[in-house]
Amino acid sequence: MPKEYSPFTPGVPVSAEFFQGRSREVARLRHLAAAAAARGRVQTAFLAGERGIGKSSLAAFVRLAAERDHRVLGVHTFLGGVSTLEEMARRVFDRLLKESIGKTWQSKVREFFGQHVRQVGLFGINVEFGAPETDLRRMVHDFAPALRNLMARLQEEQAGLLLVFDDINGLAVSVEFANWLKSLVDEIGTTPEPLPLCLVLVGLEERRQSLVSLQPSLARVFEIIEIQTWTDAETRGFFQDSFAKVAAPVDERALDIFSKFAGGLPVLAHEIGDAALKRDSDGRIDESDALNGVADAAEIVGRKLLEPRVFQAIRSARYRKILRRVVTPPFDLRFRRADLIRGLAADERKVLDNFLSRMKGLDVIRPDPDGGPGAYRFGNHLHYLSFRLEAERARKTRDV
Ligand SMILES: Nc1ncnc2c1ncn2[C@@H]1O[C@H](COP(=O)(O)OP(=O)(O)O)[C@@H](O)[C@H]1O
Ligand SMILES: [Mg+2]
Repeated sequence: MPKEYSPFTPGVPVSAEFFQGRSREVARLRHLAAAAAARGRVQTAFLAGERGIGKSSLAAFVRLAAERDHRVLGVHTFLGGVSTLEEMARRVFDRLLKESIGKTWQSKVREFFGQHVRQVGLFGINVEFGAPETDLRRMVHDFAPALRNLMARLQEEQAGLLLVFDDINGLAVSVEFANWLKSLVDEIGTTPEPLPLCLVLVGLEERRQSLVSLQPSLARVFEIIEIQTWTDAETRGFFQDSFAKVAAPVDERALDIFSKFAGGLPVLAHEIGDAALKRDSDGRIDESDALNGVADAAEIVGRKLLEPRVFQAIRSARYRKILRRVVTPPFDLRFRRADLIRGLAADERKVLDNFLSRMKGLDVIRPDPDGGPGAYRFGNHLHYLSFRLEAERARKTRDV
């Protein structure tokens, strides 16, 4: 049945209305933003977690809360693909400019940017921050004084500034960025004039480690906030609340299936929920809607979220049989070759080592040092759980 409205938003940060769980992480980040505003001192956090776990959503949620409750101006900038400090500064200031549109303090931000504001678009209704390279370099260098100047202009309206640098994958491997960050924090710490800045970097834990290896003294700078998968209760809560928005009651059996296959990973919960809602025809989400949703989501997740090379690899019929074993209890994210091989048929055994080295090469699995020789673990939940979806889809359609 075609549905005109779905509460599920796969692929975009969730709206505050549907935000589920994370109360501890929200409280810690809010506290940092409020502390920066109250004390005029810089606070720096690294929000770490796997792909699809909800980092951007958490940052967006905290930003709204900080704006509402702490008079903090929040600027959430996506820096995916950015590798230079100049481009970073351009994007952050452009975001700030766009954020100011329609606010009472819009003209103050315009004055702050001076001649660097450009009218763009068909009727000149959009604005863009456009500064030449030399000015951008200046702004990178004088980042803290520039922010102090901004906050001085906005002191009647804003008590603090929350800058979220999201998806810093490109920057995290740049030694210039690591050094810039260190000097920014040092500069703010040693200058008597206050700067009520809370800076939140968002990325994979590997990115944080990369920054620290490039600039070891950053290790002490970040407060680390690491997001984990939802608990079972949070996952169930998410499905119940979301389906309640479209007045669709959910059977207990359906909830079991959703919770099992979403595995606490929000991005999968949205895909599965969305697919199940599309399959439903009587306004009641039952076991069959849930199973159909899981099978449909397997297809979607495979194409949309898996790296093309991983997706390709698991199309092989023999690999898929092995996959099915790997994701079936007693194994979870970890497994041992010796235990796995016992459950395999002769032809599957023959390709097992190929399979393992292929998956290692794609960084889907990694040797697990805690488990000794022949022990492996999945690098993230997304791979493990999407293989579970695929195994279920194959079982259901007898496609193995
Ligand atoms: N706390 C949450 N409540 C509900 N949905 C969430 C939550 N966190 C993330 N999501 C959803 O999960 C998906 C991935 O979230 P996102 O914030 O983009 O993750 P990340 O930035 O870690 O890759 C999005 O569709 C988002 O709507
Ligand atoms: Mg994100």
